[in-house]
Amino acid sequence: MASLHKFYALLLLYLTGEVSGVQLEPLNAFVLQGSKARFNCSLEGDFEVMGWLINGRLAITISMQSGVLGNSQRFSATNFSSGTTQRWEFIIQEVQRNDSGAVSCDVQNIQTVVAQMSVQESGTVAIVGTNVTVTEGSLAELWCVAPGWFPAPELSWAKNGSVVDRSLYNSSSELQGSMFNATSVLRIRGDVSAPVECRASIPALTAPLTSTIYMVVEAPVPAPTDWTVLIAVVVSIGGFALLVLLILGIVFCCKRRKKAKSSYEEEMRRARTQSQLSIVSGSRQKPGQVNLGYVADGQTTDIPPSDFNDSGYSQTNGSSTFVTHIPDILNSNQTSNVHMRATNTLDGNGIKNHRHATIV
Ligand SMILES: *[C@@H]1O[C@H](CO)[C@@H](O)[C@H](O)[C@H]1NC(C)=O
Ligand SMILES: *[C@@H]1O[C@H](CO)[C@@H](O)[C@H](O)[C@H]1NC(C)=O
Ligand SMILES: *[C@@H]1O[C@H](CO)[C@@H](O)[C@H](O)[C@H]1NC(C)=O
Ligand SMILES: *[C@@H]1O[C@H](CO)[C@@H](O)[C@H](O)[C@H]1NC(C)=O
Ligand SMILES: *[C@@H]1O[C@H](CO)[C@@H](O)[C@H](O)[C@H]1NC(C)=O
Repeated sequence: MASLHKFYALLLLYLTGEVSGVQLEPLNAFVLQGSKARFNCSLEGDFEVMGWLINGRLAITISMQSGVLGNSQRFSATNFSSGTTQRWEFIIQEVQRNDSGAVSCDVQNIQTVVAQMSVQESGTVAIVGTNVTVTEGSLAELWCVAPGWFPAPELSWAKNGSVVDRSLYNSSSELQGSMFNATSVLRIRGDVSAPVECRASIPALTAPLTSTIYMVVEAPVPAPTDWTVLIAVVVSIGGFALLVLLILGIVFCCKRRKKAKSSYEEEMRRARTQSQLSIVSGSRQKPGQVNLGYVADGQTTDIPPSDFNDSGYSQTNGSSTFVTHIPDILNSNQTSNVHMRATNTLDGNGIKNHRHATIV
């Protein structure tokens, strides 16, 4: 019966690791990759050998008599014993992610106590963009990005030094390779200008990493009364401009009409004089004008086109006189190489022969 009691007592001591002879601390360790990890193992009374194991692999062995046995680069131990208390600190240099897991203090023939170690990685944190300006009462959306963390960091926000309510932001993270990239979006209403801070934290960090920007809150844009004034000004200016345009248009139209009327009268006058002239020449009392373009049949004398300037010519041969009007084509065609020669002849019967030669 007594032995059974002793067994239960030992089992209880063994399981709790508290009341037993061997104590390990801390039992949960969060360490940053590349830094040092430290654990203390202590007991009352003597021991022979104390072994330290990482995930079941022996890292170091300590003898109560002679201290650390063998040597290792990454692992070491420090003697903190005093009086009847045996106390040794186990130090791991340059902890790696694969060191995560169980760290055990195995005191031979007495007890083994296991602690948990988590090796973590700290990334960066930044609020996207620079200082923001928002109008009072409107929503500002701020993005915080935190890449290169393990495990995923907890992102939180603070405004003017005080924590922002959890309902105002959404955070998410995704694993990329062996690291987490975290993002948080804060939707905050502008009330007073203040610094806004994004905080990224993991247990291994004693203080969170932060990124801060300044949120400037501006008064709302012009009040409605200012708008009506602006609209009124724009409308009145526009109206005045329209009126000016209308007046200008009317004046222009009147001028054009007058001009058209006067030119019509001039045309009429000209027509009248011309008809009088034709009546005079028709009476055969006025001799015809000299036809500079006239060439006797058979002759091919070149006449410069400028000599055809006269609008008409007359030729007297025998008893008849003809007045022919030749339009002033040649003058207008002077730039081209076309020279037109016209020769008019009259045979004995008074029949007029027209010969047109076009030389290019
Ligand atoms: C281990 O114990 C020593 C002495 O009490 C103390 O200075 C040291 O900080 C302890 N180490 C840990 C990791 O608790
Ligand atoms: C550990 O330290 C104690 C107290 O200073 C000392 O008595 C003991 O000899 C040391 N042990 C070793 C192995 O150095
Ligand atoms: C842990 O990883 C390092 C490289 O990061 C490697 O050298 C070492 O062997 C690994 N240890 C274990 C126990 O896998
Ligand atoms: C957070 O996400 C949920 C679901 O997508 C959405 O309903 C909510 O409005 C978001 N809150 C903020 C502050 O973005
Ligand atoms: C943001 O605002 C703060 C406070 O007004 C100022 O000191 C800082 O220079 C500003 N930063 C940028 C990038 O404008």
